[in-house]
Amino acid sequence: MTGDGKIPFVDLVTPHLEIEEELVSVFRGALKTAGFVGGPMVEDFEWDFAEYCGAQYCVGVGSGTDALRFSLIAAGVQAGDTVVTVPNTFIATTEAISQAGARPDFVDIEERTYTMDPRRLQEYLETRCCLDRATGKLLNQQTRRPVTAIIPVHLYGQTADMDPILELAERHNLIVIEDACQAHGAEYFSSKQNRWMRAGSIGRAASFSFYPGKNLGACGEAGAVTTNDQGLAERVRMLCDHGQVRKYHHDIEGYNGRLDAIQAGVLRAKTVSGSRRTWPPPASQQGSTTRSHSISRKPMHILAIWKGISRCQKESQRKSSLCPCTPSWNFVSRDELSRKFSSHYPYSVPVGGVRISTR
Ligand SMILES: Cc1ncc(COP(=O)(O)O)c(C=O)c1O
Repeated sequence: MTGDGKIPFVDLVTPHLEIEEELVSVFRGALKTAGFVGGPMVEDFEWDFAEYCGAQYCVGVGSGTDALRFSLIAAGVQAGDTVVTVPNTFIATTEAISQAGARPDFVDIEERTYTMDPRRLQEYLETRCCLDRATGKLLNQQTRRPVTAIIPVHLYGQTADMDPILELAERHNLIVIEDACQAHGAEYFSSKQNRWMRAGSIGRAASFSFYPGKNLGACGEAGAVTTNDQGLAERVRMLCDHGQVRKYHHDIEGYNGRLDAIQAGVLRAKTVSGSRRTWPPPASQQGSTTRSHSISRKPMHILAIWKGISRCQKESQRKSSLCPCTPSWNFVSRDELSRKFSSHYPYSVPVGGVRISTR
């Protein structure tokens, strides 16, 4: 908080200065080992982040946009396909669709969540599309293009209403890629599965951005794909590394979209406890096949936000119509949210607001 009692919109300086030494030691570690691209810093981060999201695999990539584009291609979206998403998102969602060779079609958002409205999605799929009996594919009646995937965008730390979206996707044989670039740690209560699920573990794959201003931000560009689909994870790994599995064996044409090792180290420094943050690891730990990989409570200002959002989200969805009990609703403004979280996180607040119950 500043001297005049105001909370800066986003302060990216103070939180980094607080852990300056740890961040600098990441850079020193990279200098000592020349581990600039790939290697253990990236692998350790992938390991931790997969576990945090409740997904089996995580592949670090260059940005959230890369993560979306690679997820779509790896999931099988092809040139000429149509991918359904929402207009209320950052342009990267549709850039990724176009760059995968597909075309975006939009369905509107739900006033209650600001994310994809499952009823609009149903209307789109069932009144504007038809089944092509020859190919068994769903076609947009007007464009005659196959509709193959859906990207719900979890916005402002709040997930889309995923149960009905997944049900529609299953009914129409569509791939679901979560745009989780603004939803690190957000949780969704799935009535179907009767459990909380974390963003990144709900769709066929999910894409995250670690742009510096995100709730978990690097000190540069970074992103990740999480998934439970091993084949998809392997294809993303190839796509982001020039289509190679082994050095200079390029099975497909890929991209240069790898996660920078220093950024991976920065992300770990922000999420993993001090004892595990040293780099390079002590000789005793090097080459070990077993390692602990929980994300600890440090530093508080990052995890407080993750937890704050999750708690708020839980409270919101538990009491919303997504669950049996229905309270009255109020959209919490950024200012209110700042006040709510200021004791945990004095420097900035998550982008936008989240809904909490007024009861
Ligand atoms: C909803 C959404 N999708 C995708 C992106 C793209 O992420 P990046 O900037 O890391 O490419 C962003 C980032 O701003 C985003 O907010």
